[in-house]
Amino acid sequence: MSALYMKVAEVLSTSPKGKEICVKGWVRTRRGNKNVAFIALNDGSTFYSLQLVAELSGFDEEIIRRVTTGSCISATGVVVESLGSGQTVEIQMQTLEILGDSDPESYPLQKKGHSLEFLREIAHLRFRTNTFGAVFRIRHAMSFGIHKFFNDRGFFHIHSPIITGSDAEGAGAMFRVSTIDPANPPKDEAGKIDYSEDFFGQATNLTVSGQLEAELAAMALGQVYTFGPTFRAENSNTTRHLAEFWMIEPEVAFNEIKENMDLAEDMLRYLVRYALDNCKDDLEFLNGQYDKELLERLQFVVENDFERLTYTEAVEILKKSGAKFEYPVDWGTDLQSEHERYLVEKHFKKPVILTDYPKDIKAFYMKMNEDGKTVRAMDVLFPGIGEIIGGSQREENYDKLRARMQEMHIPEEELYWYLDTRKFGTCPHAGFGLGFERLMLFVTGMSNIRDVIPFPRTPQNAAF
Ligand code: 4AD
Ligand code: MG
Repeated sequence: MSALYMKVAEVLSTSPKGKEICVKGWVRTRRGNKNVAFIALNDGSTFYSLQLVAELSGFDEEIIRRVTTGSCISATGVVVESLGSGQTVEIQMQTLEILGDSDPESYPLQKKGHSLEFLREIAHLRFRTNTFGAVFRIRHAMSFGIHKFFNDRGFFHIHSPIITGSDAEGAGAMFRVSTIDPANPPKDEAGKIDYSEDFFGQATNLTVSGQLEAELAAMALGQVYTFGPTFRAENSNTTRHLAEFWMIEPEVAFNEIKENMDLAEDMLRYLVRYALDNCKDDLEFLNGQYDKELLERLQFVVENDFERLTYTEAVEILKKSGAKFEYPVDWGTDLQSEHERYLVEKHFKKPVILTDYPKDIKAFYMKMNEDGKTVRAMDVLFPGIGEIIGGSQREENYDKLRARMQEMHIPEEELYWYLDTRKFGTCPHAGFGLGFERLMLFVTGMSNIRDVIPFPRTPQNAAF
């Protein structure tokens, strides 16, 4: 009888008692006495490790000694009922092969309970901890859930470019993409770097958003979304900012601001429910380890409508609150995260959608309201996070959009293609951007954005 290779998740969920199977993975711990060794084996397929029981009389002393924390092994044995608590089954080990030794003297994850800061410094190994196994399984589930949500609703996934020639969005400082030799760049007559000699024949950057391209696609395919990496070169060293982050940007023809809010709310609630339904073991671990109110908070979001109000109403609430803020609030200023969190965590105690922001603090493409002062913007604010989504109804009127671009000194020739959509068969449309890592912060209860992306890029840090 040859042993069937199985993942630990499958062993634990199907309990194939009496079967001879093969398992492979990394050793978390080895305990025991002079007669028997207990090996906790984790292969990443589930939060749980599988217990392997080895009668030492049947094995070489030397091979058992090489079963150390962090080593990689392949083992065969019979699945039996587990007498220990917590496990339904364990493996009565028959053969053992060491695939990769792990020197106990130098393996950095020998002990449990390392700080998240320390683990950030060994990001190449932190996948092997309970915490990061849980976080990255949830990250996968959220990514899959996003595609499922949109696919089930008839949206099309559009791959927007990562390298872009326009700096139009104005969402943030950009990273230049260039093959010019920085030590010896070609110069024009004025002595400035001549990007016409660069790879693309013009200056190019990493994109800050796929929205403008998504709008082009929406005005043909109807309902689309992008889901890709975006880049911002701001020097924001906070627990909620990355220089490279992933963004989901739906764009829908014929939607106005109300439908845009409904879509954002449906999507967030769907994703949180998806996590509760599909990531139970990992969420329970995170709830116990880091944040005792995590599951309660997730359940709350699934069960309650978000509060909707205008920016103007929010400013009034903040001014009347009597709360002490580091930055003063006044109509016309951008809300700081302390203000956003006051509204969500103290005042409404639930997620909030703010709309109709002053035009001067928002992007050029947002649809102007009748008052001439505010635009049809919407930000979704979440507990512990602040802004998780930013979006708007778009200005679909050619003349108004052009006038707004002139006012904001946005070069028309760079964006002629964007203006063309308003020239040929324009229509009302709306969309938004969800920061994937901000969603991950909320769903996992982790408190630093560097701990929900495998390899964080932040100012002064692009290691690994
Ligand atoms: O509000 P933002 O800048 O909106 C846009 O980029 C629009 N083009 C979206 C659209 O309408 N299609 O960014 C959207 C979201 C924010 O709400 C936040 O969740 C996230 O992206 N975000 C960041 N996440 C991590 N690090 C950063 N530096 C981020 N900047 C924005
Ligand atoms: Mg924003």
